[in-house]
Amino acid sequence: MPLKKACIFDLDGVIVDTVPAHFVSWKTITDELNIDFTEEDNEQLKGVSRVESMNRILEIGGVSLPEDQIAELITKKNDRYVSIISKMTREDILPGVMDALALLKENNIAAAIGSSSKNATRILEAIGLTKEFDVIVDGNHIKNSKPDPEVFLQAAEKLGLDAKLCTVVEDASAGVEAAKKGGMHCIGIGEKDILGEADVVIPSMKEFTLLLLTHS
Ligand code: BG6
Ligand code: MG
Repeated sequence: MPLKKACIFDLDGVIVDTVPAHFVSWKTITDELNIDFTEEDNEQLKGVSRVESMNRILEIGGVSLPEDQIAELITKKNDRYVSIISKMTREDILPGVMDALALLKENNIAAAIGSSSKNATRILEAIGLTKEFDVIVDGNHIKNSKPDPEVFLQAAEKLGLDAKLCTVVEDASAGVEAAKKGGMHCIGIGEKDILGEADVVIPSMKEFTLLLLTHS
């Protein structure tokens, strides 16, 4: 039976909570550079690519460095991050995610990943969810990171579905912006005052229902 529509999930913050792992990994770098980097600063990096995150951190600290040193620091941050996410297991899947995936399957609705992360497949393998998604598009496949819609448009194209038949599930304002720019319906996961541009906002994946998907 051909797929009727699709749900494209962001990974970090929707399927697994990687925010603390990103924070401690960036902290290794900011401590070395004597930059005061807070959890609030880290929140602003949600959905933002690795390189852009580094640039924003340097901006916060008012620090400018040669390109080669920046590249070394980014590698160091990622090595630390990978050492943490490699230890993830099924236990790290956020509450509500497995029920949502089962609901989609029962109703012949495709499930995809649209993530800015270059570590997406590593995380999906660690938590045992790779096979649950019909399509996976991540930071390795795109030129422009969120808030550009490229990652979601690529996922829709690979699914062979029109953008208006896709619903994006996002926890970052950059991701919500990307979904809306791509002409997609969007469910925000988190707080209304941060994700106000989404069509609907729910506190967590536990509140996910099929009624929240696009009616197109
Ligand atoms: C996004 C995260 O999903 O991926 C960002 O929300 C992160 O915080 C970005 O910077 C890139 O991730 P990675 O794994 O490629 O460093
Ligand atoms: Mg996210």
